[in-house]
Amino acid sequence: MAGLRVLIVGSGGREHALAIGLSESPSVDSIHTCPGNAGTSMLGVNHDVSATDVNTVVELAIELSVDLVVVGPEAPLVSGLSDSLREKGIPSFGPHSEGAELEGSKIYAKQVMEELGIPTAGVQILKSDSDIDSALSRYSPPWVIKRDVLAAGKGVVVTEDFEEASVFIRESISTDGFVLLEEFLAGEEASMLVIMDESGYICLPASQDHKRVGDGDTGPNTGGMGAYAPAPVVTESVRQRVIQEIVNPMHHHLRNQPIPYRGVLYVGLMINDEGAPSVVEYNVRFGDPETQVTIPLIESDLGEMLLAAAEGRIESYHPIFSDKSAVTVVLASEGYPGPSKTGREITGENTRIEEGEIIAFVHQAGTLRDEEEKLLSSGGRVLSATAVASDLPTAVNAAYAIIEEINLAGSHYRRDIAYRAL
Ligand code: AMP
Ligand code: GLY
Repeated sequence: MAGLRVLIVGSGGREHALAIGLSESPSVDSIHTCPGNAGTSMLGVNHDVSATDVNTVVELAIELSVDLVVVGPEAPLVSGLSDSLREKGIPSFGPHSEGAELEGSKIYAKQVMEELGIPTAGVQILKSDSDIDSALSRYSPPWVIKRDVLAAGKGVVVTEDFEEASVFIRESISTDGFVLLEEFLAGEEASMLVIMDESGYICLPASQDHKRVGDGDTGPNTGGMGAYAPAPVVTESVRQRVIQEIVNPMHHHLRNQPIPYRGVLYVGLMINDEGAPSVVEYNVRFGDPETQVTIPLIESDLGEMLLAAAEGRIESYHPIFSDKSAVTVVLASEGYPGPSKTGREITGENTRIEEGEIIAFVHQAGTLRDEEEKLLSSGGRVLSATAVASDLPTAVNAAYAIIEEINLAGSHYRRDIAYRAL
C-alpha cells in the first residue's frame, strides 16, 4: 500500500513523534493533524479542530478522504471516535469506546484483570460512608489513592503521609462520589506498548517513563517527564512473563469481544525484585513521552503497521526494530504540573545533532506559532529533547546537549532521566 493520506488526532509530543515516524514511512504520502502543534505543522497540515470534538474530526476525515486516522489521546476514544470513523468505513487506529473503557474506568479495568487472573494491586472502593481511617489502616503505607477520572496521570497520589492521604480521599469523594485505595506495589516501573488487533499483536521495545516532577522521583506525579528505551528492567525473562501472564490473556479476551480491539494497548507495569510483573494501569493509546523513544526504534514502515492494525491484519506485518537506545527529556512550563505559565517565547528548538550514529532533535508538544511566526509555549509539557544512539549513555548526553540549547523563561526539566539504567 502506498500513497497513504493519514490524519493524526491530538497535539502533544506523542503526536509529533507519530508524525515524524509516519513522514519517514514510504507508504505515507501526506499527513494531516488536528489540532496539532508547531512541530506537526512542519510535516503536514494542521487543522483547527479539537481532538475531543468527535463529530467534527469525523467530518474532517471524510472531507480529506484519509486512508487512516491515528488517534493520540484517550478522551476521543472513550467518546467513540473510532466507532464513528468505522461506521463511515474509515480505518481508525485506536479502540472502540468499549475497549477504551480499560483506560476510561479503572474499576472496569480491575474487574477485567480479576476475571482473567492478571496480576495487579488489590483495591478498595471508598464512598462517602466509608470509614477512611480504618480503610487506610488496612493497607500499610505508602498509600496509593486514585481518582477514577481521565486526569493525564495527575489523578493519583502516592504518599506515606496519613493526613495527605485522608485529605485527598475526602476531596476526591466529594467531587467524584468515590475513590480507589490501592495496595502499594514495590519495584521498578516499565511501559510496554502492544500493537493489537484480533489477528495478533506486536510488543514494541519496553520503555521507562519518569512520572514524578523532580529528580530522584520526588514531587507530584505528572504526565511524564522523560523516558528511555529499551528499559533493561524488562529482561528477556521478564518480557516472557509479561507476555504469558498479562498480554496473552488480555489479547485472548479482547479478540473475542463482539467488536475487536484495534490499536495500541499500553501496559503500565511494576516489576518486583524477583522479576514478577504486575499491571499498574492500562492505557488504550500510545504513551507520552514513551512514544518519543519507541517510534525511533521502529525501522520498518510505521504507516503500514498502524494501517494493518486498524484493518485487523497485524499478524501479517513483520516489524524490524533497531538495536539502538533512545531517550527523551521533557521541558515543562513554569508551574507544571500545577497551573502553568504559557504564551512565552521559545528559542533554540531547531537545534539538531547528527554525528555518526547519534541523532538528536526536538519533539514539540505544547507549542504554537503566533502571527509573527514566533514560537510560543502553549501547554504544561512544552517539548522534549530526544536522542537516538548506539548506547544509552551517549543518547543521554546528546539529549541533554540539545535541551541546554533551548530557552524558555521559567521552564524546568529533570536532570536524571534514565538514571536507573545508567
Ligand atoms: P496511574 O495513573 O495508575 O498510572 O498511576 C500513576 C503513577 O502512580 C504510576 O505510574 C506509579 O508511579 C504510581 N502508582 C500507581 N499505582 C501504584 C501502585 N499500586 N503501587 C505503586 N505505585 C503506583
Ligand atoms: N507517560 C504516561 C502516559 O502516557 O500515560
